[in-house]
Amino acid sequence: MNEMNTKISAIGVVPVIKLNNPERDAAPLAKALCEGGVPVAEVTFRAAGADTAIKLMKEACPEMLVGAGTVLTTEHVDKAIAAGAEFIVTPGFDPEIVKYCVEKNMPIYPGCTTPTDYHAALKFGLEVLKFFPAEQSGGLAKIKAMSAPFPMFRVMPTGGIGLNNLKEYLSCPVIAACGGSYMVTADLIDNQKWDEIIELCKKSVEIVKEARK
Ligand code: 3PG
Repeated sequence: MNEMNTKISAIGVVPVIKLNNPERDAAPLAKALCEGGVPVAEVTFRAAGADTAIKLMKEACPEMLVGAGTVLTTEHVDKAIAAGAEFIVTPGFDPEIVKYCVEKNMPIYPGCTTPTDYHAALKFGLEVLKFFPAEQSGGLAKIKAMSAPFPMFRVMPTGGIGLNNLKEYLSCPVIAACGGSYMVTADLIDNQKWDEIIELCKKSVEIVKEARK
């Protein structure tokens, strides 16, 4: 796997973040994730100011991997790169955005859940795909079924993953890492519950270790 895929896979979980108040919350959130042992974030463009959040998180924790999520346009890609994002995540497969990122050597994880999506991804030489929304699209059973004709891909399932099913997903060798918002919910962030976020991250790290024993 390429360097970014190797780093993300080593961490094992990717918090999917929507920050409503980046000026107040981005830096303490980044520090909490790092302290909890999960130094990676997918900062979604679902909230205005995602690019500010990316910049502030990276400044607070330079060692952290900060990427952009819910990227819907090439303009989002440009904004994310300008803010210092190191990877791009899209909810679906948009060949224009994938091509744009590949040409810029920008790691991209497009959302793919069907054989048609996987075929499209194959044309771009991608190694890891986002499998989204994971639980709603058939979960682990579908991921395993898709892996039979497409053994070249590993996936980052996101959607419906929590502490209850994280181990089951991570125990499957097709899974590179799991994305989720359970450790960074709106309640936790908006009420600045950094200690709870640290605890949830630590629990996640334990599960990653157990699953890969
Ligand atoms: C995403 O955008 O990847 C999902 O909304 C995260 O899904 P979750 O909230 O079920 O973890």
